[in-house]
Amino acid sequence: MAAERSGAAGGFRLHRPGAEDPRPVRAVPPESGSPAVAEVLDDGALLDLSTDIAGNDVEEVLTRLDAELVGLANVKLRVGEIAALLLIDRARQRFGLLASRPTMHMSFTGGPGTGKTTVALRMAEMLHALGYIRKPKVHIVTRDDLVGQFIGHTAPKTKEALAKAAGGVLFIDEAYYLFRPENERDYGQEVIEILLQEMEGERASSVVIFAGYEDRMERFFSANPGLSSRVAHHLAFSDYTHDELLAIAEIMLGRDNFRFDDPARSAFGEYLELRMRRPRFSNARSVRNALDRCRLRQAKRLVELRRPLTKTDLITLTDRDVYGSSVFGATELPDGPTARAPD
Ligand SMILES: Nc1ncnc2c1ncn2[C@@H]1O[C@H](COP(=O)(O)OP(=O)(O)OP(=O)(O)O)[C@@H](O)[C@H]1O
Ligand SMILES: [Mg+2]
Repeated sequence: MAAERSGAAGGFRLHRPGAEDPRPVRAVPPESGSPAVAEVLDDGALLDLSTDIAGNDVEEVLTRLDAELVGLANVKLRVGEIAALLLIDRARQRFGLLASRPTMHMSFTGGPGTGKTTVALRMAEMLHALGYIRKPKVHIVTRDDLVGQFIGHTAPKTKEALAKAAGGVLFIDEAYYLFRPENERDYGQEVIEILLQEMEGERASSVVIFAGYEDRMERFFSANPGLSSRVAHHLAFSDYTHDELLAIAEIMLGRDNFRFDDPARSAFGEYLELRMRRPRFSNARSVRNALDRCRLRQAKRLVELRRPLTKTDLITLTDRDVYGSSVFGATELPDGPTARAPD
């Protein structure tokens, strides 16, 4: 039943030298924090990555990503690769090996509720831990935050958004709305041009993440090759399977000190089967909404019990709380019809 878990973010584990290994040097002296200010190592030195404090912070972020998020194996793998790239970049700096700063602008494509925003938050923490950005913050915007209504309004709006994101991550949700080829005077084009300048190589002070549905993003990037060529990492978020959605439900419930009893768990499995086929199904977001409504029904059921309640009563969601959903249509509850809230 439980969805398969990948290893800690694609198996990201730093080697920790044993007593038998030759004595390596610390990757970054703890007091300095940054490889750039530490003294340059001899050519023959051995570097112990596990002593880079950034490496430990990164391991923690990746372990949390793995524990909090069900599935997403390819995304976790990619996040682990990016972490490794930046960690090795820091190690290279310790030997005085100069190189251009790796580009970190990204695109996150996938359906609604597949974890794009959540992964962006973790990504910001990780990039910050590795010293790539100055603050672990994500500034989320959509077209309306960037495009002005009148001539001359767009540039200041976009620059204001960039200023808010400076030193962190600018997350542009449904980025393709910036591009409206049917209207050649659309101000979205102005935003794209400002972004192009901002994202230029070494000077970029923030990381830009473009997010949205896969097919529309593809069209957006093929119409704007300049943007596409500045995006180094494309992460694809797949829709969750039934088993993954069930596992996500259990994680969400556990976090809030609730649990399904056995009949409720299988009822929720049935619920998901039906809900997944209905319009506007939004993966983990739909799971969260469905659980909120289960809690509503549980509360009503408990109040109507008219008896003292146990801790177990308060924790447990039963199949009645699940079957009350409008997704089950005309299904009657064992003890008579119940008014159904819209799904
Ligand atoms: N794999 C997962 N495991 C556990 N919880 C998840 C997972 N994916 C998403 N969630 C949860 O589902 C909710 C929606 O996720 P999130 O907002 O990150 O999705 P999104 O892809 O940004 O959605 P949208 O496209 O609608 O903006 C959040 O509460 C998040 O914590
Ligand atoms: Mg989102």
